Amino acid sequence: MKSHLTAQSLTAYRSPPLSGQFSLPGDKSISHRALMFSAMAVGESKISGLLESDDVLATAAAMRAYGADVEHGDDGVWRVSGLGSGGFLEPDGPIDFGNAGTGVRLTMGIAAAHPFASTFIGDASLSGRPMGRVLEPLRRMGADVIARSGDRLPLSLRGGDPMAPITYRVPVASAQVKSAVLLAGLNIEGVTTVIEPVATRDHTERMLAGFGADLQTGTNADGETVIRLTGMPDLKPQTIVVPGDPSSAAFLIVAGLIVEGSDLTIENVLLNPARTGLLTTLQEMGADLAIANERLSGGEAIGDIRARHSALRGVTVPPERAPFMIDEYPVLAIAAAFAEGRTIMDGLAELRVKESDRLDAVARGLKANGVDCEEGAESLTVTGSLVPGGGTVATCLDHRIAMSFLVMGLAAANPVTIDDGAPIATSFPGFIDLMAGLGARIDGGAAAA
Ligand code: S3P
Repeated sequence: MKSHLTAQSLTAYRSPPLSGQFSLPGDKSISHRALMFSAMAVGESKISGLLESDDVLATAAAMRAYGADVEHGDDGVWRVSGLGSGGFLEPDGPIDFGNAGTGVRLTMGIAAAHPFASTFIGDASLSGRPMGRVLEPLRRMGADVIARSGDRLPLSLRGGDPMAPITYRVPVASAQVKSAVLLAGLNIEGVTTVIEPVATRDHTERMLAGFGADLQTGTNADGETVIRLTGMPDLKPQTIVVPGDPSSAAFLIVAGLIVEGSDLTIENVLLNPARTGLLTTLQEMGADLAIANERLSGGEAIGDIRARHSALRGVTVPPERAPFMIDEYPVLAIAAAFAEGRTIMDGLAELRVKESDRLDAVARGLKANGVDCEEGAESLTVTGSLVPGGGTVATCLDHRIAMSFLVMGLAAANPVTIDDGAPIATSFPGFIDLMAGLGARIDGGAAAA
């Protein structure tokens, strides 16, 4: 994988109205899963609209390392010839997931039910992130793990003999943990049960069912989500169209709301209810957002989102909404900086273990640009109105920190600089060009390091 040897600083300037109608690269969560599940089906799956970002390309390389045939056709369609669930082959060497948390955690689930060693490595950000949350249930299912202290990468794991299905109550609201357990269960005889006290994005469940897995989702007497998966299915190859990524759309939407006179329409955005918490919150803040052309595509809701410049006001975001907008808090904090009054965001413990400690990175970036904010252990309060800007922000190998503060610079009084724009390629290659095409003023600086 690419390492960020040369940091590329970027500066965003107060911009004229942004306008345009366009679609965005495919959803990252769905793209990872499409490659993995296709690699576990017998026969050829076709994927169009795949997000071709560093994170997803790492997953494509991983599936090849396990023996699947993964081809990118001249027609833009990805063709994956799968090996069958349980049919992965021993990789020749360590698998490098770069910055990709979803890629590595879900692949660990698959690898845990194969009787050979897999070794996983990643960049400095991924190597600092907790893997114990995934390893703990996988160990309970019988997998052997050798990991650096604190269960961090690099680590190796091997499927045990025997492996047994478990019933697992997910202790943190994490779709990655849920998915890793289900993917391990896929290759284990019997029923694996996952209980989610707090529901999270359900792309794994929807897509596995689409591939023909025997999977039921229900609710127990305590209101918890219960997912039951019967192991050893024959997964059937699929044709998948990946919808636009709502987490990428978030940057465009907030840019449209805060840059005076803007009017943006983003087509074909995924509108799965587990991903639309930001839209709800922005509407509560007074955002002029319109959703049109709502329809179903491949079992997922999609639609077009129009965002126009709006006078925003601060709100209190209900903590229970966090799983439905967990990746969107950095850019919500930018919207909050331009809103009248205080925005209170709570229940954000998970933000501390993302690609960076996002609570800390956002608070530092806001302060560096003259925005009044208060960082708590699990909360962030932003008092908005006029944003001075003029600061330089450390992006900490975190694509969403990089894009959030560039968006801030488009409407702040003074330019905003980020020390490194290279991480943007992990989820949104083409972001800078797209923004420039809509009217945004973003300049590349010299290599910063
Ligand atoms: C993801 C789940 C979330 C999210 C990540 C993608 C997924 O992580 O932050 O960007 O595709 O399952 P957690 O499971 O750690 O909440």
